[in-house]
Amino acid sequence: MMQKETGYLPKRYNIKSVKEMTSDVKLLRVSSKINPLPGQFIEVSIPGIGECPLASCSFNKDYVDILLRNAGNTTSEIFKLKAGDKIYIRGPYGKGFPLETCGKDILLAAGGTGIAPVTSFIEYIEKNRKKFGKITIYFGFRNKDYILLKDKILMWKKKFNIRLTLDQKSPGYLNGFINQLIEKDHPNVENSVAFICGPEIMMKAITKSLNSLGMKNNKIFWSMERRMECGFGNCGRCTIQDVYVCENGPVFRYDFIKPRIENEEHANEVKE
Ligand SMILES: Cc1cc2nc3c(=O)[nH]c(=O)nc-3n(C[C@H](O)[C@H](O)[C@H](O)COP(=O)(O)OP(=O)(O)OC[C@H]3O[C@@H](n4cnc5c(N)ncnc54)[C@H](O)[C@@H]3O)c2cc1C
Ligand code: FES
Repeated sequence: MMQKETGYLPKRYNIKSVKEMTSDVKLLRVSSKINPLPGQFIEVSIPGIGECPLASCSFNKDYVDILLRNAGNTTSEIFKLKAGDKIYIRGPYGKGFPLETCGKDILLAAGGTGIAPVTSFIEYIEKNRKKFGKITIYFGFRNKDYILLKDKILMWKKKFNIRLTLDQKSPGYLNGFINQLIEKDHPNVENSVAFICGPEIMMKAITKSLNSLGMKNNKIFWSMERRMECGFGNCGRCTIQDVYVCENGPVFRYDFIKPRIENEEHANEVKE
């Protein structure tokens, strides 16, 4: 409720630093005290150009990191910004990862820029390590040139069980999709909760693998992306059936969102 009243107007912030990750992905650090919760998103804009929803890629009270893929009209303009430039942000919006999963073993799986919300959750876990059990993190990238946040991944390797795999074969790296690696690893999922972020096709495949290990859909959470406009449940742009991805999500328990995604797919098939 507060967000509808106060979070609608974008505020201007300073870009502290910009790091190139790959040819089409950059990491922008923005000085801001908004501190989104892990899995929440912000609406980022340049006046006169446009606005887009982006996950928070940090859990920090003094800045927000944005992992930005140059994908189209607005993101390509944000992509050109440099340290010292100004950017506009409103939010944070949405429901992030259920932090009451404390006490459980956590299995995180992220593909491509899906690493952004997962980073925010990992940083939360680092600050609240005693509240969680065993942490296993799966990352999947196209090839070694597309590995995002390498420095962070190296640092996390010292603390967590990190499993990184590449779609394309490369010496020194595991090869294959995350779901294949999970099936090979056969982790014990008895006391685990899983959080998955990435393209829907990837999340479906990983979910199937986790199901085959005995993990139920009520222990699996998806971070969903849909086209958005308002970001807070007003415009209806982001709906999946009766659900507003921006307000009820973007993180959903899979047993809740699964029938809605299936109904939506069925309705689209009938339309075609
Ligand atoms: C909750 C949420 C979190 C996101 N987090 C990140 C993030 O951390 N980093 C990041 O790089 N991107 C993220 N995205 C995707 C990002 O919002 C889109 O890439 C962006 O809105 C594209 O805007 P544009 O004007 O540059 O592209 P446009 O010119 O509008 O479109 C370019 C292409 O992007 C596709 N597209 C547009 N919006 C979306 C969308 N919401 N989801 C998927 N595809 C889209 C279009 O269909 C088109 O193919 C997130 C999206 C959501 C909904
Ligand atoms: S983006 Fe407007 S209702 Fe979700």
